[in-house]
Amino acid sequence: MNENPIGIFDSGIGGLSVVKEIINILPEENIVYFGDTARVPYGTKSKETIKKYAEDDVNFLLKYKPKLIVIACHTVSSYASDYLRKKFKNIKFVDVVKPSVEKAIKVTKNKKIGVIGTTGTISSGRYQLLLSKNNMNVYAKDCPIFVPIVEEGWFENEISYKIAEIYLSEIKKHNIDTLILGCTHYPYLKNVIRKVVGENVEIIEPSYEVAVKTKNILEKNNLIRKNDKGKIYLYFSDIGPYVKKAISFLFDKKIKYKLTKNV
Ligand code: DGL
Repeated sequence: MNENPIGIFDSGIGGLSVVKEIINILPEENIVYFGDTARVPYGTKSKETIKKYAEDDVNFLLKYKPKLIVIACHTVSSYASDYLRKKFKNIKFVDVVKPSVEKAIKVTKNKKIGVIGTTGTISSGRYQLLLSKNNMNVYAKDCPIFVPIVEEGWFENEISYKIAEIYLSEIKKHNIDTLILGCTHYPYLKNVIRKVVGENVEIIEPSYEVAVKTKNILEKNNLIRKNDKGKIYLYFSDIGPYVKKAISFLFDKKIKYKLTKNV
């Protein structure tokens, strides 16, 4: 049994979808989340900046002595997960790219997989590499405007639908049967994306797989907390109106959490 929290970070609010799944699967774990809302987006930044921000985020979480850290940001997972693993050797990390790739390979029938993500994630080529190594045909597209749309809280309106149509039109031509949402913000737009790609395309959002992976690692290392309900601490580097909107969109009213601005 281990009282230390699970640390989770993202560039903003997107990683809350991972928090939600971890609460579902591991309700007794304490969680400390950090969303770097003051510096979002990461997806348009250079590799060097992303590494620096990622390091800052990990250093923030280390104050809470996490037993494991989830990198709930695809841009950081793509560009800086190896760097973080080398830099913080004693920390167990779970990233979001591998679980998405593994799930996509499991569910595809025609081996035609679409991946959408930030410009950083798509140009890192990490998804393309991991999928093509497994003989998948990959069709990748960056969708940078999705992030501000989500931050604005436009989860489902005419504009978000129109933008999704434009971004996804090329990928759709390739008859993909699986689409990876390679950005933590995109699950908020799932209804819109679903309308554009149609019912027959399997949409992969990795939160569930990431939560299962986290559980497996904790079990394997005897680190599971079994007690009462875990405590949820949500820290953000800035708390704009959309932070509360995103929390109430995602979280059940029964979930109790403490929201704090970290300056
Ligand atoms: N969290 C980022 C990701 O999953 C998306 C937002 C950003 O660009 O920072 O890639």
